[in-house]
Amino acid sequence: MNDLDSLVETARQAFAQSTAPAELENAKARFLGKSGRMTELMKGMAQLSPEEKKSRGAAINLAKQAIEAALTARRQALSEAELERQLQAEALDVSLPGRQRGQGGLHPVSLTLERIEGLFGSMGFEVADGPEIETDWFNFTALNTPQDHPARSMHDTFYIEGGDEQAPHLLRTHTSPMQIRHAIAHVKRHRAALDAGQAIPEIRVIAPGRTYRVDSDATHSPMFHQCEGLWIGENVSFKDLKYVFTAFCRRFFETDELVLRFRPSFFPFTEPSAEIDIQFQQGPLAGRWLEVAGSGQVHPNVVRNMGLDPERFIGFAFGMGFDRLTMLRYGVSDLRLFFDGDIRFLSQFQ
Ligand code: DAH
Repeated sequence: MNDLDSLVETARQAFAQSTAPAELENAKARFLGKSGRMTELMKGMAQLSPEEKKSRGAAINLAKQAIEAALTARRQALSEAELERQLQAEALDVSLPGRQRGQGGLHPVSLTLERIEGLFGSMGFEVADGPEIETDWFNFTALNTPQDHPARSMHDTFYIEGGDEQAPHLLRTHTSPMQIRHAIAHVKRHRAALDAGQAIPEIRVIAPGRTYRVDSDATHSPMFHQCEGLWIGENVSFKDLKYVFTAFCRRFFETDELVLRFRPSFFPFTEPSAEIDIQFQQGPLAGRWLEVAGSGQVHPNVVRNMGLDPERFIGFAFGMGFDRLTMLRYGVSDLRLFFDGDIRFLSQFQ
């Protein structure tokens, strides 16, 4: 093999060993660049006779063409390999089954909430929403709940640190503060009519939402859901509450085979007060009295705190835990299941 043939061979090998374009261009410079091997060979021709120059020149040109061809071929191969790599990386396997999105659904407690809103809505009740972080005034004081009431103790209530000592903030322990908030807004809207001694629309509202107490077992969760109801007018009586609540329960549980009893009780914000129990006449729970709500005639002090004259306005309120209603409706025995977030449990309600 002469020197030119071996140079071509060396170049071929150098190109073949270059696995990246930049490496290949470096190799090219070594052979075909300005100070590369080819240029050196050309310079070496200076001392030759015209005859020798002619044949040597032709041979060098052939070698150069061979090296250039090898370079082009290698460039081509590298760019094809790169394309192939990209195609592989971005390959779309159309035979792969699609990723399942799964179907979302409402939480069972949300389903109950929707039913409650729908049923009371059909009986002329508005739906109100309010803050879960309450002031001590709305949660207790305005509801005629005295300073020494056990519900105010640290054991029962989540107080929020760093607040005003005189007016501490807390996580509301019930939805009852919404009675006051909603009534105050209602009174404000009808201030002029009230001052003129004219009639104003009745307050008829429910206020569902999250409530909090330091409590946790199979039937109590530190966060739970209540729905407050309030009906205030000049001519409302206990029988209205009884009618509305009975109609609600029968529709909620989809049975008329259901009776209610109002059992005397005590709440600071109602007088008289009653616990509402229901009893199914059929089914697995038949014959058992189940407590579903507290209720009563709104206490005159509370009516006053709403900005209304208790001599003129009278009202009824109730508060029910609707996690409990959800458990009864679906036959669930442990409340905590609702809040554990286990999709296998939750998806059964869709
Ligand atoms: N707020 C009471 C509780 O959480 C329930 C309650 C009782 C609400 C009587 C009322 C009511 O509106 O009139 O235990």
